[in-house]
Amino acid sequence: MVHVKSEEEIELMRAPCAIVRDCLSFVGERIRPGMTTGEVDKLVYDFIKASGAEPSCLGYGGFPASACVSVNEVVVHGIPDDRVLEEGDIVSVDLCAYKNGFHGDGARTFAVGEISPEKQKLIRVTEECFFKALEGLRAGTPLFDIGYRVQTHAESNGFSVIRSYTGHGIGREMHEDPSVYNFGRRGTGMRLKAGTVICIEPMIAMGDWRVNVLDDGWTAVMADKKPAAHYENTVVIREDGTEILTL
Ligand code: MF3
Ligand code: CO
Repeated sequence: MVHVKSEEEIELMRAPCAIVRDCLSFVGERIRPGMTTGEVDKLVYDFIKASGAEPSCLGYGGFPASACVSVNEVVVHGIPDDRVLEEGDIVSVDLCAYKNGFHGDGARTFAVGEISPEKQKLIRVTEECFFKALEGLRAGTPLFDIGYRVQTHAESNGFSVIRSYTGHGIGREMHEDPSVYNFGRRGTGMRLKAGTVICIEPMIAMGDWRVNVLDDGWTAVMADKKPAAHYENTVVIREDGTEILTL
C-alpha cells in the first residue's frame, strides 16, 4: 500500500533528506586514492550522528555499516571494509538518515582520482537517467513511465539497466510501496498521486545487466565484471511536477 504523505509529513522529511544530501557532498569532497571503503563508512557514520540523525542502513536486515560503498563492478550493497580505493576506480556511496520519524535516502557514484572516459560517461549517463525520469513526472503519471525513461536513455547510450534492484517508496519506513523499476513499458502501472514520496535510483551497467550476489548475502557484482554506477534521490510527486528532497 502506498502511503501518500501530508504536507506536515513532507516537512518532517526535509531534515533527514537534507542530511543525506549534505553527507553525500561531504563524502564526495573527501574521497581520494588510498582511502579505504571502511574509512568512507566512518565519515558517513560520524556525519549522520553529528547531524542528530541515525544511519538507517546500520543493522538494516543485518547490514553491518552506515553506507553501502560499492567499487567498480560492485553495483550496490558493497560492505565497507579494508579495501583501498585506487586511482581510476569509481565508488558508489548509498546512505540513509533517520530523523523526525522519517528516512531520507540518496546515492552518488564518485570518481577516485582520474578515471577513464568510459567511466566518466557511465557516471554522467546514470545521473542523466535520473533527470530523464523526472521529465513530465507529476501527479497522474503512470509508474512505469519512470522505468521507460531510464531504460531508454541508458540503452541509447550503449549501457544496460540492472533488473534485480529497484527504487522504492520511502517515509516512516526506508522501503515502502511502490517498487520503482528502472525499466518498463510506458503508460503502464499505477498512476502516482500527489504527496507520494519515492526514491528514484537508476543503477546502470557498462556491460550486461546480469548481477551475482556474493556469499556475504549483500555485495551485488556485475556478472561480466564491468563497472556499474548508481544515482539516487528522494523525490516528492507534486500536482504540477516533482520536488527533489536530497539535492
Ligand atoms: N539505500 C539503499 C536503498 O536505496 C538501501 C541499502 S540496503 C541497506 O534502498 F541494508 F544497506 F540498508
Ligand atoms: Co533507496
